[in-house]
Amino acid sequence: MKKIKEIIFVNESGSEEGIEEAEKYIKKAVKTAVGFFKFPSGYQVSVTLVDEDHIRELNREYRNVDSSTDVLSFPLEETDPRGARILGDIVLCRDVAVRQAEEFCHSLERELSYLTVHSFLHLMGYDHMDDEEKLKMRSMEKRIMRKMGVFKNMDRTEASREDRELIRLATEMLDMAYCPYSRFHVGAALLTSSGKIYTGCNVENASYPAGICAERTAAAKAVSEGERHFVKIAIACSGEGYAYPCGVCRQFLNEFADDDFEVILVKRSGEWERASFSKLLPHGFRGKDMGIEID
Ligand code: THU
Repeated sequence: MKKIKEIIFVNESGSEEGIEEAEKYIKKAVKTAVGFFKFPSGYQVSVTLVDEDHIRELNREYRNVDSSTDVLSFPLEETDPRGARILGDIVLCRDVAVRQAEEFCHSLERELSYLTVHSFLHLMGYDHMDDEEKLKMRSMEKRIMRKMGVFKNMDRTEASREDRELIRLATEMLDMAYCPYSRFHVGAALLTSSGKIYTGCNVENASYPAGICAERTAAAKAVSEGERHFVKIAIACSGEGYAYPCGVCRQFLNEFADDDFEVILVKRSGEWERASFSKLLPHGFRGKDMGIEID
């Protein structure tokens, strides 16, 4: 007998915007999560997209919480006449997911995938009420997300408020880039030891080598304001992949980089990752290598 694999997708959000894309991500997340469990006679799960008022109503009715939320899970432990396990319902609000993706500076794909995986695990009996349960649930979420390849390592992508601000500013600077020759926009936001953030963009020139990268624009702005210690830099670009700082910029930043100077790279999709500066430029050349101490 054919195994039952049923994902019932219903859009009750009242809008068609982005629904096809959401359906694709959600189904992929369910299918990947399913792969971690055994359903000898198959499974059935339902996913419903609702608007914010509706999810708030459901949250109030079933959890006694009078506020909107991202996702709700309604487990069902039933078996259908064909023997398939009926896992229950995932109710998701796309508008909240869009907002959260922006807030956390990651893609909508990542947010929708995560919410689906999280909710699916609730249907499977996972919970996060106490520390032990929570750890188990998080570790399972990570395994599934890694398998999906939405991003490689969840821990590294957890953003602090400061990271998010740097990512936001670096991304905003993409619009300021002067790049009529390469059409490749780069934006940078540099945090210094005074707590101030300096932004920069690439500035090209008809005489190509005269142009300057976004990182050095931000660095020169900071140093010319009296800054001498760099803490963290976010570098955004308009490309499909990450724009790691070029060799010249690595050396330029090295002059003022604190020991644990951190680099955050941001792609066009909004996805981002961290890199350690000392790994990008091991044995960077410094004044002290010439016997010159600079304080
Ligand atoms: N670019 C940067 O601004 N930063 C980098 O780290 C790599 C390259 C700029 C320079 C040029 O305007 C464009 O990207 C294409 O090389």
